[in-house]
Amino acid sequence: MIEVKALTKKYGDRLAVDNISFTVNRGEILGFLGQNGAGKSTTMKILTCFMPATSGTASVAGFDVFESPYEVKKRIGYLPETPPIYLELLVSEYLDFVANLRKIPSSQKRKKIDAVVERCQLGDVRNRLIGNLSKGYRQRVGLAQALIHDPEVLILDEPTVGLDPKQVSEARGLIKSLRSERTVIYSTHILSEVAATCDRIIIIDQGKIVAQEAINLMGATGGTTKTEIVVQRSSDELTQALRSLKGVRNVQCLSNGRDRIVLETEASEEIMAEIARIAVAKNAGLIRMSPVHLALEDYYLNLISGKREVSI
Ligand SMILES: Nc1ncnc2c1ncn2[C@@H]1O[C@H](COP(=O)(O)OP(=O)(O)OP(=O)(O)O)[C@@H](O)[C@H]1O
Ligand SMILES: [Mg+2]
Repeated sequence: MIEVKALTKKYGDRLAVDNISFTVNRGEILGFLGQNGAGKSTTMKILTCFMPATSGTASVAGFDVFESPYEVKKRIGYLPETPPIYLELLVSEYLDFVANLRKIPSSQKRKKIDAVVERCQLGDVRNRLIGNLSKGYRQRVGLAQALIHDPEVLILDEPTVGLDPKQVSEARGLIKSLRSERTVIYSTHILSEVAATCDRIIIIDQGKIVAQEAINLMGATGGTTKTEIVVQRSSDELTQALRSLKGVRNVQCLSNGRDRIVLETEASEEIMAEIARIAVAKNAGLIRMSPVHLALEDYYLNLISGKREVSI
């Protein structure tokens, strides 16, 4: 549905996007993850025909963004970093204006507007001035304008920035509800966000793709998972036995009042069962066994802190 090949964008001497290539399949939600200045918005502006690339190609639904921008724009809903809203309009007036821009026939306009108002939960503010709305509601209006014409592809640039936790969760729900109906690219610098919403992530750093992977907390860390066990009595014998287990990649002993052991292992239930069995057999007094959820975060930080050769 979206195909990007060797895309490069320079602003003067500054290389913002550096030879990136990726594809997004129909019905997929792709998370575009990277820290400030990574090149996320620049890539999105090129895909939505707001800006030409310096070199490389990109196509959306089979149409080249440089050669057929009109065809591409028809099929895309775009929520830029700053929502394109008019503060002096009522929400209803604005949606009517966008529907006209999108050339929605007047016979369908009412139905389409009602549908996005419902989907973006704007019913309560329909007759209010956009300028008087809170940030979260403005963001929802921005999302509504991106959805009004039922686009096949949605490009959302940090759609949850500035929202309160409840609104973030609602926005995630909304985006997830689009899965399979539409193709979505969704940028953020918040890791938990992509983990909660996306099928696949692309991690971009200094204009380069440093990783692309299916979202699966374990998969994204190269099939490694971290587990912490807490025991009453740690011993060399116990750590030796854990180290020699097949599938265990690393064993780290930490002491924090109690004996804590962090294991990096292959992601499999059998290994968990074996670890528990050994802790009991060595009479270590097993208190707790829990997954360490930071694995994806560690992995991400590793990638963007200069270690470039990670292959997955
Ligand atoms: N119009 C512009 N002129 C010059 N440089 C620009 C322009 N827009 C972006 N840049 C630079 O290009 C690089 C990538 O910026 P971009 O906005 O794409 O990053 P981003 O990943 O969206 O970051 P953020 O998370 O802060 O939104 C940055 O170094 C930025 O300073
Ligand atoms: Mg940006």
